[in-house]
Amino acid sequence: MDKLVIRGGEPLLGTIRISGAKNAALPCMAAALLTDEPVILENIPQVRDIETTRKLLAAMGAEVELGFGRAQHRTTICAKNLSDPEASYELVKTMRASTLVLGPLVARCGRARVSLPGGCAIGARPIDLHIKGLEQLGAKITQDHGYIEASADRLIGGEIVFDKITVTGTEDLLMAATLADGETIMQNCAREPEVADLADLLNKMGAKIEGAGTSTIKIKGVSKLRGAKHAIIPDRIEAGTFIIAGALTGGDIKVNGCDPGHLAVLLQKLNEAGVKTKQTADSVRVMGDNPLKAADITTEEYPGFPTDMQAQYMALVTQAEGTSIITENIFENRFMHAQELARMGANIQLDGRQAIVAGPAHLSGAQVIASDLRASASLVLAALAASGETMIDRVYHIDRGYEKIEAKLAGAGARIRRIE
Ligand code: EPZ
Repeated sequence: MDKLVIRGGEPLLGTIRISGAKNAALPCMAAALLTDEPVILENIPQVRDIETTRKLLAAMGAEVELGFGRAQHRTTICAKNLSDPEASYELVKTMRASTLVLGPLVARCGRARVSLPGGCAIGARPIDLHIKGLEQLGAKITQDHGYIEASADRLIGGEIVFDKITVTGTEDLLMAATLADGETIMQNCAREPEVADLADLLNKMGAKIEGAGTSTIKIKGVSKLRGAKHAIIPDRIEAGTFIIAGALTGGDIKVNGCDPGHLAVLLQKLNEAGVKTKQTADSVRVMGDNPLKAADITTEEYPGFPTDMQAQYMALVTQAEGTSIITENIFENRFMHAQELARMGANIQLDGRQAIVAGPAHLSGAQVIASDLRASASLVLAALAASGETMIDRVYHIDRGYEKIEAKLAGAGARIRRIE
């Protein structure tokens, strides 16, 4: 298993370019199942979850071409012949977002067989709201041998009020409703930019969607969707991760090709913690020579503080003057990185959904283990600020959502290498 070796203490200097958003690319690839015409997606990040999605769609009979060379960030998907509308346990267990095919398959093929995702390091993460929503659109759902079986001659438009805000739940039902008979109104929807990006693609495919990006979305069903070309939005979580890398190492970096508008709450919190930033329409410059001050965060649905930035923020405030309280409201078990940061010398007390971080603490290099995607990012950040060498094990987690992270960081002066 690959490991990353990082020698810390170097300020990051220069520019880092942001890739397309993993959490927009995955639903957009699933959306290609809704039509028998080619869908061309650009600015696709080269991360492992994209490869898993390619396998998932190909296993159903779709033709999926991942570009290479100059076209490496482009993919063409043609789901003309969907011979087997099934998402197997083998694939779903490696990537829970595979459940995003459930709605499109029922809508397009009238049936779907999708493995239940099972438990996850950061929480139980059930998909009951996906299932409930599909039933509200008239699908018949049974569960058998760890699989969901869903069927409907044609889905029927209706009212869906989500009990809880769910990102992929909103995306899954949004896709299903595009081919339903009649109008669907969805309330208490997720407002993440990735949801709006998916709706943007679907409308290019001929869907009739209004209100994506707000908590109420209206969809007028159509009988058929066509192919389209669409460029995926930048990855705000990747951008946030590198912005914190600049602040944590006392460096001066420009994060290019991001959308600062999607980072508003993070930038506001960083400024509160003493980090100097400067934005343009598509970049954020971080000048990290200011002393860091403690600042509390509470994770919330968008536009609140993203849970996917919580671990990285924890690494930052280990170096801040004072005590920061981090409250994790979205997932019940998302502090696995705290113990590993403590092994590097951080002072963190856990109390249920709260982590109390006292700083500044001297971080020293150590052998640590990544438990999930964002936890591994926080260990990379801590290692960049630590004295000596850190070895991070199980970095396959980080490859799921960060494109060429060591090359991007080394390009800004980090002493980082991968051991295969
Ligand atoms: C999406 O996951 C993201 N993944 C996650 O990013 C992100 O952490 C999460 O949204 C929250 O922002 C993708 O977009 C592929 P949810 P998702 O449904 O959709 C509960 C990363 O690091 N819930 O919004 O699975 C659930 O347990 C990943 O890139 C139900 O109870 O998250 C959680 O507590 C990690 N029943 C809360 O809602 C349901 O049917 C929010 O989960 C669905 C969700």
